[in-house]
Amino acid sequence: MATTATITLHEQDTTRIAAELAERLEPGSVVGLQGGLGLGKTVFAKALAAALGVEDTVTSQSYTMVAEYEGRLPFFHADLYRVRSAPEVETIGLEEYFDRGGVTVVEWCDRAPEILPPDAVVVSFELTEGGTRRITIEERTRNAHDSLEPRQQ
Ligand SMILES: Nc1ncnc2c1ncn2[C@@H]1O[C@H](COP(=O)(O)OP(=O)(O)OP(=O)(O)O)[C@@H](O)[C@H]1O
Ligand SMILES: [Mg+2]
Repeated sequence: MATTATITLHEQDTTRIAAELAERLEPGSVVGLQGGLGLGKTVFAKALAAALGVEDTVTSQSYTMVAEYEGRLPFFHADLYRVRSAPEVETIGLEEYFDRGGVTVVEWCDRAPEILPPDAVVVSFELTEGGTRRITIEERTRNAHDSLEPRQQ
């Protein structure tokens, strides 16, 4: 698993980090965003969409629906803020989007972490003691997951 943490000061830092991540995404990628209120998750989701060629405005998403956008890849946007349990996520049918060849972004993924696939990218937003914002990207890889299984020689 590759982890990178960046201390940020401005909204443009969040946007740049999202655009850099977008270059590493592929059909089927799932990106979970987690961290406190107002730390930049929606800014990050919008910047990912823009970097993936979505021209429509990505709006804050109601928790009962997954919004679909067209870009170079299909782009799906969910927000689990009001979700209280994993069974509640099942009513949204979020997992059905993971296999549709697009990029799925899940804000407040920590509301139902078990729903994320093992190779999800998880982006965490934190306020530091100095008042800056730390953005940490964990890129979980299929290989890291596979290595939990006995290796075939
Ligand atoms: N790296 C940053 N440094 C300083 N301000 C930032 C940074 N990234 C985003 N912001 C600002 O943070 C504010 C909140 O951003 P945003 O709405 O994306 O947060 P959020 O995590 O989606 O919030 P919520 O949890 O309420 O949905 C915006 O005004 C944005 O300009
Ligand atoms: Mg938000």
